Amino acid sequence: MCGIIGFTGILDAKTVLTEGLKELEYRGYDSAGISFFTDNGIRTVKATGKVSNLCDKVKEESKETAACGIGHTRWATHGGVSDVNCHPHKAGKVTLIHNGIIENYKELQEELAKDGQFPVSQTDSEIAAMVINSCYNGNPVQAIKDAVKKLDGAYAFCIMFEDHPDVIYAIRNGSPLVAASCEEGSVIASDMVALIKYSKDYFVLPERHIARLTKNEIVVTDMEHRVIMPKMLHVNWDVAAARKGGYDYFMLKEIHEQPDSLRNTIAPRVVDGLPDFTADQIPDSMFDGIHKIVITACGTAMHAGLIGKNMIEKLTRVPVSVEIASEFRYASPIIDEHTLVITISQSGETADTLAALRLARENGSKTLSIVNVKGSSIARESDYVLYTHAGPEIAVASTKAYTVQLSALYLFAFRFALVTGKLTEEAARDYIGKLEHAISIVEEVLSYDKQIETICQRLKTAEDLFFIGRGLDYGLSCEGSIKLKEISYIHSEAYAAGELKHGTISLITDNIPVIALATQENVLPKMISNIREVRSRGAMVILVTNAEVTVDASLCDHLIKLPAIADEFAPFAAAVVLQYIAYYTAISRGLNVDQPRNLAKSVTVE
Ligand code: M6R
Repeated sequence: MCGIIGFTGILDAKTVLTEGLKELEYRGYDSAGISFFTDNGIRTVKATGKVSNLCDKVKEESKETAACGIGHTRWATHGGVSDVNCHPHKAGKVTLIHNGIIENYKELQEELAKDGQFPVSQTDSEIAAMVINSCYNGNPVQAIKDAVKKLDGAYAFCIMFEDHPDVIYAIRNGSPLVAASCEEGSVIASDMVALIKYSKDYFVLPERHIARLTKNEIVVTDMEHRVIMPKMLHVNWDVAAARKGGYDYFMLKEIHEQPDSLRNTIAPRVVDGLPDFTADQIPDSMFDGIHKIVITACGTAMHAGLIGKNMIEKLTRVPVSVEIASEFRYASPIIDEHTLVITISQSGETADTLAALRLARENGSKTLSIVNVKGSSIARESDYVLYTHAGPEIAVASTKAYTVQLSALYLFAFRFALVTGKLTEEAARDYIGKLEHAISIVEEVLSYDKQIETICQRLKTAEDLFFIGRGLDYGLSCEGSIKLKEISYIHSEAYAAGELKHGTISLITDNIPVIALATQENVLPKMISNIREVRSRGAMVILVTNAEVTVDASLCDHLIKLPAIADEFAPFAAAVVLQYIAYYTAISRGLNVDQPRNLAKSVTVE
């Protein structure tokens, strides 16, 4: 969603802002703009399309130097993609950028109209600027305080006041903002990827607190004007982690980073060969009295839950349901203090997942989150956090975040079963061994790239495609399908293989590609029958199996055999195959894999 950057200090602000916006491109956007202080007041430059368009315009239109400014990439919600709707927005002395949605903007607009004030854009953000301006009497902090009382919804604002040169004010509610002081000045952004160049130490601006950034310091005050010291955080990755490092796309780089991400996530939780959450400050008492587990998340993170459910139920015999967060939050779920609600999120900022977490807390459930971004909203609001250590994930299509989420869920299952006596130490050690072994298998599957790239040539012109599987392979099919859809734009569906004949098989005709996952021995004969059913209707079958499985050549057009791996751990290996299928199919269609149309990396609106 929208990206935000603000800088004040001794560097050239226009360069800091445009470079920062390039770092934030991965979030998804359709236009970009910057505003900066000049000797003649605040100057704004905007452009639709890529940040490079904005950079060209900045070069053409503005020769001034600037030490302070704000910049924004917009992902349209209210109002189409146009220069006028692009941020920053100006109202009187106020110039502002916004990430989020002001839900009551219509009512506010009507109020402003009574005073003869009308917006020039169709955005809710301009209305916010107008409200702040109408509250402004020379005191920025007071104006912001008064204005936010009138605003409903989610927001992260960076605001400049014309008569307060080289100062940036910021406030947030729901939408993310992180800030850092460095030798060159003060910088604020929607995420660390834009800050890392300046500092590895940063803080998350607490909600409904106001930050005042000057070149020498950042002062944070609460709504009662008390100065507070925000909790400092540190990232353990550097600028290189947020660069392509020689790969054509971030997605490919991130696929290749999976062995390291898995090692970094698993190793700190293994002590003497056993699962251990001491370093995560998760006490064994967390597992007391849990009668039921609900896993709730969106997209790929939810698909990780589908796989995790299997291992948790198998080892603990505690029922697990996996819920789409955007559905869960509006249902009236049957959860209570005996329910553990697990939220999974790479970004830790997904609006629906955050709302689901809040609902769980309201119902008195214990909450555990599996999150990649330190200090994110979901992490901060959960009772317990298991951080995954994938490093920054830049490509919109989630890859390494998925496999580390699987590993965190497996570790959770092992620890839960161990502390509740369902697993002996010996058995727990054996499971840990298999999980560690899965890392080397992932490494091996990374070398399948050429084989898969060749197979994907056959998918290049497909219009419809199916992923089928049973048990764990059905959960994996869901992930394979979303990955392919989002970056290749080929319509695809994931189906439980046994369910096909109840309707969907009517869509299988000559040469329709079917990607059949058959890694689970307990359902293998049934799965083979289902593959024969689609094959006899003309499907072009790409079959993914485990090493031990022998299939006759007539069953498929292409066979991808995973290295030998225990069935329950096959999802780690098969995930890489599915990621490659999506990646090379999109590449064969000449698409920009990292920035698929209409999508945003972190979905901070409903
Ligand atoms: O940041 P989150 O993990 O909460 O994001 C959830 C989904 O938006 C995300 O997994 C999405 O489905 C991916 N783009 C899929 O590759």
